[in-house]
Amino acid sequence: MNYKKNILITGGAGFIGSHVVTLFVNKYPNYRIINLDKLTYAGNLNNLRDVEDKPNYLFEKADICDFELMLEIFKKYNISDVIHLAAESHVDRSIKDPFTFAQTNVMGTLSLLQAAKVMWEDNYEDHLFFHVSTDEVYGDLDFDDTYFVETTSYDPHSPYSASKAASDHFVRSFHDTYGMQINISNCSNNYGPFQFPEKLIPLFINNIRNGKPLPVYGKGENVRDWLYVVDHARAIDLVFHEGERGDTYNIGGFNEWTNIDLIKVIIKTVDKLLGKPEGTSDKLITYVTDRAGHDLRYAIDASKIKNELGWEPSLQFEEGIEKTVRWYLDNEEWLDNVTSGDYLKYYEQMYADR
Ligand code: NAD
Ligand code: DAU
Repeated sequence: MNYKKNILITGGAGFIGSHVVTLFVNKYPNYRIINLDKLTYAGNLNNLRDVEDKPNYLFEKADICDFELMLEIFKKYNISDVIHLAAESHVDRSIKDPFTFAQTNVMGTLSLLQAAKVMWEDNYEDHLFFHVSTDEVYGDLDFDDTYFVETTSYDPHSPYSASKAASDHFVRSFHDTYGMQINISNCSNNYGPFQFPEKLIPLFINNIRNGKPLPVYGKGENVRDWLYVVDHARAIDLVFHEGERGDTYNIGGFNEWTNIDLIKVIIKTVDKLLGKPEGTSDKLITYVTDRAGHDLRYAIDASKIKNELGWEPSLQFEEGIEKTVRWYLDNEEWLDNVTSGDYLKYYEQMYADR
């Protein structure tokens, strides 16, 4: 078959990447989707069961930091566009091991950009490098009515957000210096199926089902804006097809929660779905030492993508969180698989260090 586009999606075995791959493979049978992933602890091919046998889906196990290999893959598949999600994504890990974050998030992004430049420089107008980034690059906000907009200055605080900010700057520099067509999206906290249970929501669901403590950092007063992952994938699809090239789009859920309020919703929902009386798992809440440099509040103003491209979250939070809890409880095997082995050692060590 002669495909209209050969799209390289990096990090497609991870949480958000697997939803983006699934959406593109199913919605666009005339695009060939090449999922490139190193399969770190966070990558899991079981996340792609829905599409793995589709004729327009391919998988390449590779490290984005390997520039020669990236060139080879661009040539092998005649890559027309990139949607780049591969990254080290967990703030707590970045505090322990910043080198890996600089390597993957900065050098890996640069290696992909350079491969794209070599392959596309005669006709940039036919290609797009779409970089998926985070609202954490903007720093943090007070408890007031301010929001991150696309023009907010970058002010990253953690090694994770510093590495993502550096990668955003590299992507923009390839647009400004060489004329590569790019888009950058900066999204708030995602939740939903296939998220690795080191992140707040799946970690807490898993701990409640196992009767384990729920480690609340500091006083639990920090605020995050939560978006259902499929709505993020829809936004990426929209910007990929209709975004103004060279632009940044902020993506968010218009849905702010303090951690402690969110945790109470998670407990209530898990207890309800497990058939336990309300309040049963409240006793698992355990206040622990705060995360170093813990950003107080993230809040996205997503009106640009709403007004210019007509995107809005499709799912109300109450519905999204119930759907999410139900998915993890129905997929205990998935949870048990990813929480054994190395992950368990890491998790035990992290709390031994506190
Ligand atoms: P994730 O950790 O679940 O998945 C990352 C994927 O990248 C994994 O499959 C992993 O194997 C792969 N990967 C890591 N290093 C690699 C390398 N060197 N080469 C190739 N593949 C590699 O992350 P996620 O939560 O799905 O986040 C995806 C992207 O979206 C990241 O760029 C992240 O910064 C961004 N983002 C995440 C959120 C969120 O709430 N999770 C919000 C906004 C933006
Ligand atoms: O804002 C977008 C970002 O959201 C993404 O760029 C990151 O990749 C993603 O990991 C996420 O970062 P956070 O640090 O906000 O997510 P996390 O789930 O780790 O934590 C959410 C909040 O909950 C945060 O304030 C820290 C707190 N927390 C987290 C964990 C894991 C706890 O109180 N206890 C915990 O055990």
